[in-house]
Amino acid sequence: MVDIEHPKEALAGHIGMERKALEPCTIVIFGASGDLTARKLIPAFYHLCKDKLMPPAFRIVGFARREKTDESWRQELRAALDQFSRTKPVDENVWKGFAANLCYCRGDLADAAAYKKLEELLTSFGSGPLRENLLFYLATQPSQFGEVVGEIHRAGLLHKDGAGWQRIVVEKPFGHDLASAHALNNDLTRYAHENQVCRIDHYLGKETVQNILMFRFSNSVFERLWNRNSVDHVQITISETLGVGERGGYYEEAGALRDMAQNHMLQVLSLIAMEPPVSLEAESVRDEKVKLLKSIRPLTPDDVARQVVRGQYFAGMVNGQPRPGYRQETKVKTDSNVETYVALKLLIDNWRWSSVPFYLRTGKNLPMSASEVRIQFRPTPNVLFAAQCGNHLDANALTLRLQPNEGISLRFNGKVPGMSLGVRPVRMHFSYDAEFGAYTPEAYERLLLEAIAGDATLFIRRDEVETAWQIVDSIREGWDGKPLTNREFYAAGTWGPIAADDLLAQLGHAWHEPLVIK
Ligand SMILES: NC(=O)c1ccc[n+]([C@@H]2O[C@H](COP(=O)([O-])OP(=O)(O)OC[C@H]3O[C@@H](n4cnc5c(N)ncnc54)[C@H](OP(=O)(O)O)[C@@H]3O)[C@@H](O)[C@H]2O)c1
Repeated sequence: MVDIEHPKEALAGHIGMERKALEPCTIVIFGASGDLTARKLIPAFYHLCKDKLMPPAFRIVGFARREKTDESWRQELRAALDQFSRTKPVDENVWKGFAANLCYCRGDLADAAAYKKLEELLTSFGSGPLRENLLFYLATQPSQFGEVVGEIHRAGLLHKDGAGWQRIVVEKPFGHDLASAHALNNDLTRYAHENQVCRIDHYLGKETVQNILMFRFSNSVFERLWNRNSVDHVQITISETLGVGERGGYYEEAGALRDMAQNHMLQVLSLIAMEPPVSLEAESVRDEKVKLLKSIRPLTPDDVARQVVRGQYFAGMVNGQPRPGYRQETKVKTDSNVETYVALKLLIDNWRWSSVPFYLRTGKNLPMSASEVRIQFRPTPNVLFAAQCGNHLDANALTLRLQPNEGISLRFNGKVPGMSLGVRPVRMHFSYDAEFGAYTPEAYERLLLEAIAGDATLFIRRDEVETAWQIVDSIREGWDGKPLTNREFYAAGTWGPIAADDLLAQLGHAWHEPLVIK
């Protein structure tokens, strides 16, 4: 772990490796007038600039259809920064230096002439690295990716091999199913090598998610317990208090399985369960993640009925606020069968994890927003304390709190002070904030820095995306044509449908609510 006295090293030193000096480059954001740019990308670049982590020279070019000048775009972004910056107030000196590197190029993604104009703008930066080293951020609809990649290639801005480097950054959703992901990946790699494509899952940029590998493989106490001999089962929870709100149109096409399980949940699972990589090089880490995903036991439609639970919220209260049912949300069909909750029991058919259930759940309008992984260890033989505890001696559990209250908690049993032999579970907590101070870079800062540096470790490889879709497609096949049953509805503000409790009860397990650390 890096000393928090040196926050720049914390971000720049990727898992202890020295970072090469970054080369000057130009970042082109397609979709620069949109929400993602104002809310995430520009605040992240601003902070990289503030922390002196950007290359010695850089430009950021925004591309979109709306009429703007360089100056009006900068003013809009400055106002957005007041709202979205993680540090306040905005440092005017840093902003002035940063803003001088921003320029706007108006154009339609479908118009070849607009790319010619973009090419001329980039050439006006000189014939060196600002023209040759190009990071293209596609903050647009995935259906536009193929067109953009083709046009930037034809405009002479993207090459598989040639002067400088060019990379493409894309966001989820990476397709809708395996077939569409395959087609999208073909589009992305038509004029670029796979290693020029950075697929972002912002979960992988989170400090706590990065710490999973560090924690597992640098602590002998836990490393030797991380297998079927010691672990009884694993629970991964990603819960949200928000409903679908204004995103009903998108959600009707996606649902919880595509929106959360295909990407964030399976990514967290692969980091928790993968084998140690031979090195921390990007390909070694990603090879192990893919191997893990491929070891997940395939689900037949009958398995889906037994091992997967979907749910949909009806009207209820979340934190004292009334919430409409999903079918009453805007742009949602009144008889929609789309799931706003999903719980899975996955089995991993490899030597380490044989017969250990991995339970994953995610949902909207749940009582708490939290992401955590709970490793439930096997209990000790219930011999010594049977008189005090009956059959209820709690087993040890390790909880990785990914957000909020980032940290790790270990639960073990302790003697209740006094003359009797009472035993009860107690906890030890590690908290990032208490240990390292409140220095937490946004996931996007780290991911953008890695994209500029060309380190692919934190980006999802094509085969990872496609293997995850295979799993998700098999679940959707199991659901095909089957409407939701009564047992699959849950009131907004509760922990999901009863069927999800039954899923764990099959093996005598129960869901644990995410920890609240005071
Ligand atoms: N927002 C987020 O937090 C978030 C998070 C994860 C993933 N994403 C993904 O990131 C992408 C962008 O999201 P967003 O929320 O920023 O979307 P958005 O607010 O709808 O913005 C879309 C952008 O695309 C531009 N655009 C659309 N059609 C165009 C065309 N024909 N020519 C030129 N520009 C065009 C729009 O600019 P003009 O209207 O000016 O042309 C606008 O700048 C989406 O794929 C989304 O799923 C977003």
